[in-house]
Amino acid sequence: MSNIPEKNQPNLDKVIGYAKQVLSNDCTGHGFDHVNRVAKLSQTIIDEDHLTVDAFVVQVAAYLHDTVDDKVVTDVAQAQREVNACLLTAGASAFQIDHIFTIIDNLSFSKELLQGAEVDTLEGIIVRDADRLDALGAIGIMRTSYFGGSHQHPLHLPDLAPKDFTDHADYRKGTTVINHFYEKLFLLPGKMHTAYARKEAMRRMAFMEAFLKEFYAEWDV
Ligand code: ADP
Ligand code: NI
Repeated sequence: MSNIPEKNQPNLDKVIGYAKQVLSNDCTGHGFDHVNRVAKLSQTIIDEDHLTVDAFVVQVAAYLHDTVDDKVVTDVAQAQREVNACLLTAGASAFQIDHIFTIIDNLSFSKELLQGAEVDTLEGIIVRDADRLDALGAIGIMRTSYFGGSHQHPLHLPDLAPKDFTDHADYRKGTTVINHFYEKLFLLPGKMHTAYARKEAMRRMAFMEAFLKEFYAEWDV
């Protein structure tokens, strides 16, 4: 747990309330349920790997990580101002606010993939691994289909090969739901930095491979 004195710890309930309000209408797999799982998975990583961190920064970053992302909000700068106001109201210190923004501004796979963005504090690494775990397994399959449906992506086009994305707009457009497994999801286990997340990612990926085997067999019925 955090070593920071009680009076300097942000009021997590205020942050959770804000995340709930911003993410409640999301229909792309980035709703409040997602950030709630990321917060829980982050805590599991801390416990399983016996990590010493500012647990409040981890929790706040987990709840807020998708509230300043272009895939969820239309005006990123405005969203950043709102998050800043929320953190001030919640009583976060300037140091914590700075740290939280460093994490949530650089967390996304697309930013790492396309802009070389790096998260280098242990708190950031934990939230990023947790976010990536929630992209895998049964939940990952459902979220990917949900996202693809909301963006009018085809389910599967056997003749369209997965792409190697180098452009953000292109990456957001995507190709097909099934291709997203290869374009992003199967790259994630190799990008985990904590021991628990690496092991859990491999377990979830094995489930997805079994799912794909069944999917292809049924597709070619
Ligand atoms: P990030 O912000 O980390 O780049 P993404 O938006 O790529 O995150 O991914 C978050 C989740 O949204 C993915 O794990 C996946 O479930 C879904 N998703 C994102 N892009 C696509 C896509 N092109 N096709 C299908 N699902 C997608
Ligand atoms: Ni996320």
